[in-house]
Amino acid sequence: RTGTTTIPVVVHVVYNSLVENISAEQVKSQIDVLNEDFAKRNPDLKSVPPVWSDSIGDARILFKLADRDPDGAITSGITRTSTSIVAFGDDDTVKLAVSGGTDAWPPDRYLNIWVCHLGDLLGYAQFPGGPVHTDGVVIDYRAFGTTGTAEAPFNLGRTATHEVGHWLNLFHIWGDDGMGCAGTDQVDDTPNQAGPNTGFPSFPHTTCNNGPEGDMFVNFMDYVDDRCMVMFTAGQVQRMHTALDVTRPSYLE
Ligand code: ARG
Ligand code: ZN
Ligand code: CA
Repeated sequence: RTGTTTIPVVVHVVYNSLVENISAEQVKSQIDVLNEDFAKRNPDLKSVPPVWSDSIGDARILFKLADRDPDGAITSGITRTSTSIVAFGDDDTVKLAVSGGTDAWPPDRYLNIWVCHLGDLLGYAQFPGGPVHTDGVVIDYRAFGTTGTAEAPFNLGRTATHEVGHWLNLFHIWGDDGMGCAGTDQVDDTPNQAGPNTGFPSFPHTTCNNGPEGDMFVNFMDYVDDRCMVMFTAGQVQRMHTALDVTRPSYLE
C-alpha cells in the first residue's frame, strides 16, 4: 500500500454524568495524536533507543473527523448520547442504542470510536473480520485525548493509538497466544518478549534471551504508560496495511 490512507472517523460520546460529555476540543486533541502516531511524526519519537531507530514504521494513515453522516448530511463527526448506564464493560453494550449506547455508523466508511465511562478498562477494540455492528474501538473518557478529562499516566492519547493498532490487526507485542517466550505477535521486527511491561521501564529490559536490546517497551502495542509508548515498527505497519487491503478495502488512498 503506497501513499496516504485517509480514514473518516466518527466519535460517539456516550455520557451518564455531565463530565463524561467531553468537549469537541478534547476529541480533536485525540485525532491530532492519532495523526502524529500513524505518520511517524510524534515529537517523542526521539526517546526511541537508537538500536531501534531504523525499525520505526510510518503507517501513513490520516484520520479525519467525518464531515458527512451516513445519510450525507453535514456533521461535526461527533455524536452525543445521554445514557442511564453508569459504567460500561467490554461487552459491546455501548455500541448499541438498545442497550444504552449508540449504534455504529457503517464501518466500511467510518472508524467508529465510542468514548464512555468504562469500568476498570482503558479501552478495547474489535479485530478485523468481526461483526459489522460492533466494529470499532471503545475508550474510557479519562484515557481519551490530551486535555479535559484525560488523566495521567494515560493522558497522551495513546490508548486510542493502541486500540486502533488492534483494529488494524496488531496483537500485543509479546504475542497473545499465551505461549510466553515461544509465542509471537506475527511480526518479525518486534523482539520476542515474555509478557506485558507497565510504567516506564529503563533500557535495556531483557526477557526471553532477547538481549542486548531487550523488550521493545517503547512500542505502542505494549502496556506501558502513554509517555513511554512512541513507535510502531515497519513490520507492524506492513501488517496494518495488509489488514486495510484485505478487510477494509473501502478506505482508498
Ligand atoms: N489495556 C488496553 C488493551 O489491551 C489498553 C492499554 C493502553 N495503554 C496505554 N498506555 N494507554 O487494549
Ligand atoms: Zn491491547
Ligand atoms: Ca515479534
